[in-house]
Amino acid sequence: MSWLSFHKPFWGIDIGASSVKAVRLEPIRKGMQLLDIGMKNLPMGEDFHPENLSEALAEALDALIHDKKRPKAVVNFSGKTPLIRYLSLPVMPKDELAEAVKWEAKKLVSFPMEEMLLDYFIAAEDQSQDIKRYELVLVVVEKNIVQKQWAMMNKIGLDLLAIDVNPLSLLSAVRFNHPNDLKGNLIYLDIGAAKTDIAILKEGVLRFTRRLEMGGEQITRRLETELNVSYDQAERMKCEKGMAAEEAIQTFLKEEIDRFIVEVQRSVDYYRAQFRETVFSKIILMGGGALLPGFADYFSGYFDSDVMLDDPFIAISGAESLSDVKMISPRFSTGIGLALRGNC
Ligand SMILES: Nc1ncnc2c1ncn2[C@@H]1O[C@H](COP(=O)(O)OP(=O)(O)OP(=O)(O)O)[C@@H](O)[C@H]1O
Ligand SMILES: [Mg+2]
Repeated sequence: MSWLSFHKPFWGIDIGASSVKAVRLEPIRKGMQLLDIGMKNLPMGEDFHPENLSEALAEALDALIHDKKRPKAVVNFSGKTPLIRYLSLPVMPKDELAEAVKWEAKKLVSFPMEEMLLDYFIAAEDQSQDIKRYELVLVVVEKNIVQKQWAMMNKIGLDLLAIDVNPLSLLSAVRFNHPNDLKGNLIYLDIGAAKTDIAILKEGVLRFTRRLEMGGEQITRRLETELNVSYDQAERMKCEKGMAAEEAIQTFLKEEIDRFIVEVQRSVDYYRAQFRETVFSKIILMGGGALLPGFADYFSGYFDSDVMLDDPFIAISGAESLSDVKMISPRFSTGIGLALRGNC
């Protein structure tokens, strides 16, 4: 699918396990305007070998992006789970801070630092004590994986501006689209095909992230095996009626979703205990897994907070008439976040 096509600023390109989503935004006087958007499925299943990823990606991007020049883009990190750590340090000049962070990172990360890439940002300034402190978020990823991804993106023809990690690109999207929901504790979940990212904010500041190796693909695989149908048939069975499907299908869906909910509850319980927090204002569901018919209602039965499906276009002009996009809008939350990182 490719719905709009103009030329201009950076692309946010979300390379997911099941599909590539590409978004281009332009800053306007009153916020952001959508310039281009599209999605292309990636091959999945037994026939697909990871060594063919570069070719599949090139094909997808060719269909989505029509720029003749090398398109400038921010993409998401596609390696293993990035390490995200939290740190509090006294306020100090920025160059000293960089050194102090490196020093502290060595204590927090169990891998040799020379093999890792470290990035950090100041999430908040704590003014409540005598000595003001920075609340920092550190991101650590394997250097060679970033280098490989960077080289692959260049080979495919992108002019890469940055590689971003998922919970942080989603943080940009949440802050931009949901400024009124940032009071108190807010949870957002990106339920993809192969993984789910859970993140919790307090007053808009990232405090917790966890990745579950669970997503929509696992549900499809379960139906495929149990009902002895093809992957595509199982996918259709899942997406058509979801929780309202016939009993034989529903039982397997519920079993998979219940296992998923237990894992989410574990994370929330950990956060509750760690930070002595009790109230969560909202849970925002993102990613295609959240689109399973009836899922949001079923899921909300297990949590006290309001549960909503994300609309990542809510504060962005230009998507109003795109009904195809609107129907699957939570799948674009990451792409929007990446495009925002490139254009802010
Ligand atoms: N209407 C629907 N009902 C049920 N599941 C759906 C629906 N639409 C999409 N999905 C599921 O959502 C998943 C794809 O979502 P998404 O595009 O967010 O994942 P991804 O970004 O490719 O994967 P990941 O984030 O894990 O790398 C697939 O597992 C798909 O089966
Ligand atoms: Mg995804």
